[in-house]
Amino acid sequence: MSPDIINSLASNGLSPSGIFSGNPYFSAGFGLIGVGAVLAVLRQGSRKAAAFTRRQLLVTLEIPSKDKSYQWILAWLSDQQKLKSSSKKRIFSKIIQNATKPRHLAVQTTFKQHDNGSVAANFSFVPGPGKHLFNFNNRWIQVDRVRETKMLDLTNGAPWETITLTTLNKDRDIFNTILYNAQKKAIEQQKGKTVIYTSVGPEWRPFGPPRKKRVLSSVVLDNNISEDILSDVKDFIKNGKWYEERGIPYRRGYMLYGPPGTGKTSFIQALAGELGYNICILNLGERGHTDDRLNHLLTVAPERSIVLLEDIDAAFNKHRDRSDPNSVHLSMVTFSGLLNALDGVSSAEERITFMTTNHIDRLDSALIRPGRVDYKVYLGNATKFQTATMFNRFYPESPSLAAEFAEKTEGHQISPAQLQGHFVRFKTSAEMAIENFNLLTAKQDI
Ligand SMILES: Nc1ncnc2c1ncn2[C@@H]1O[C@H](COP(=O)(O)OP(=O)(O)OP(=O)(O)O)[C@@H](O)[C@H]1O
Ligand SMILES: *[C@@H]1O[C@H](CO)[C@@H](O)[C@H](O)[C@H]1NC(C)=O
Ligand SMILES: *[C@@H]1O[C@H](CO)[C@@H](O)[C@H](O)[C@H]1NC(C)=O
Ligand SMILES: *[C@@H]1O[C@H](CO)[C@@H](O)[C@H](O)[C@H]1NC(C)=O
Ligand SMILES: *[C@@H]1O[C@H](CO)[C@@H](O)[C@H](O)[C@H]1NC(C)=O
Ligand SMILES: *[C@@H]1O[C@H](CO)[C@@H](O)[C@H](O)[C@H]1NC(C)=O
Ligand SMILES: [Mg+2]
Repeated sequence: MSPDIINSLASNGLSPSGIFSGNPYFSAGFGLIGVGAVLAVLRQGSRKAAAFTRRQLLVTLEIPSKDKSYQWILAWLSDQQKLKSSSKKRIFSKIIQNATKPRHLAVQTTFKQHDNGSVAANFSFVPGPGKHLFNFNNRWIQVDRVRETKMLDLTNGAPWETITLTTLNKDRDIFNTILYNAQKKAIEQQKGKTVIYTSVGPEWRPFGPPRKKRVLSSVVLDNNISEDILSDVKDFIKNGKWYEERGIPYRRGYMLYGPPGTGKTSFIQALAGELGYNICILNLGERGHTDDRLNHLLTVAPERSIVLLEDIDAAFNKHRDRSDPNSVHLSMVTFSGLLNALDGVSSAEERITFMTTNHIDRLDSALIRPGRVDYKVYLGNATKFQTATMFNRFYPESPSLAAEFAEKTEGHQISPAQLQGHFVRFKTSAEMAIENFNLLTAKQDI
């Protein structure tokens, strides 16, 4: 007699000994075979019935880790967990909740730097791999997080995952609500922040958490340079139709050039914040880049973003001699590849590109011709106006000293970055900053 049958009998609430004693057929052994056969049929039948019901009554939503909404859903699920444990509920639902609480959690740590420099870490628990049940708007939803063990996501080395949400067919509209809520939460978190994207393989990935916006007025440029660029970009953004009607590619390229530490990078960051745009940093020297990939990346850049190419002169000049064994140059991007990606037949239609360089004279004229670079601005060492304005920003309580300080810079070449360093050093006293002015000029002789 197979133990399997006894088990199934026992689980049906029948004790085997009770059946054996009263029924003569069982002693002959027929009974067992019969019961076994019936049970087998029933079991198979119920399995089929279950599969049928699942098909008819349940609806599932699969979210692969490649999809954008994947992280949103995870964060949202983690939030649901937090809401639950805090809310007061009747004892019955508490017990159910106890039973359905995920037993397998995964941790997600976020860091946040305070303005005073101290770092705080927050842990949030997200459902780990496995099946979890949770209740949302009084409807039950099963979350199944599956980790693919054999396949790695080559772009970031993490295992492929899928989250499958299952709920009753009649509740299928809840998926929309969930996705919408998760997306809303994710977007709210980015509000007032700038997301920096970098290229990972053939796609763009957020680099670190969204940054706080930098105020445009914190980057002090000479005269009206800042306002002029801002109005030019704004003008470009709202004139899509104009470009379309004239059959011109809807692209605009900007070039900021000048000595180091004059605010090129900072200005672009602040401008993106002002416009509510994100920044896509394209590193031409990255290994594995090819002309095709460069073109692809520029085509698939996230919406409402500025493509930033930093130190464009270094990308091709420093390592131009590829036969030099000392030059570690694994990027396969060619100069003509860049030219075509920026303004060629197959280049992307809608784009704002910013380039920075310290040496515009080293750039090929093909790169900075209109169409690739439509707007060139020189950001130079601090003028008197910039010096005084920066002084006022750092010492708002002593405006009368700004002119005196600016006067001292006469005849010296000082970059805004140096000024910033000086003011940070003497941040408590404007008088000290003036007294120690000679440190500022001495430093640059080193
Ligand atoms: N015009 C400016 N107004 C205010 N701060 C500035 C200005 N220029 C530079 N700084 C400060 O100096 C630092 C360096 O600036 P930034 O990185 O923008 O320089 P950069 O022009 O991009 O230099 P590089 O050519 O070396 O990349 C930043 O911390 C920034 O706050
Ligand atoms: C929930 O489970 C925890 C431990 O698993 C137990 O201490 C607690 O009493 C349970 N709560 C309810 C309401 O059952
Ligand atoms: C950490 O969590 C607390 C409370 O949930 C929240 O107030 C705080 O802003 C969070 N900090 C970070 C770094 O996310
Ligand atoms: C920094 O600021 C945070 C909150 O703003 C505070 O909790 C922390 O104690 C501060 N750290 C220091 C070293 O002042
Ligand atoms: C800057 O712009 C303002 C107003 O648009 C104007 O009054 C001022 O003269 C400009 N300054 C310079 C130096 O161009
Ligand atoms: C700007 O200032 C730096 C540092 O003081 C100096 O080395 C450089 O030559 C100056 N550049 C120009 C164009 O004046
Ligand atoms: Mg820079």
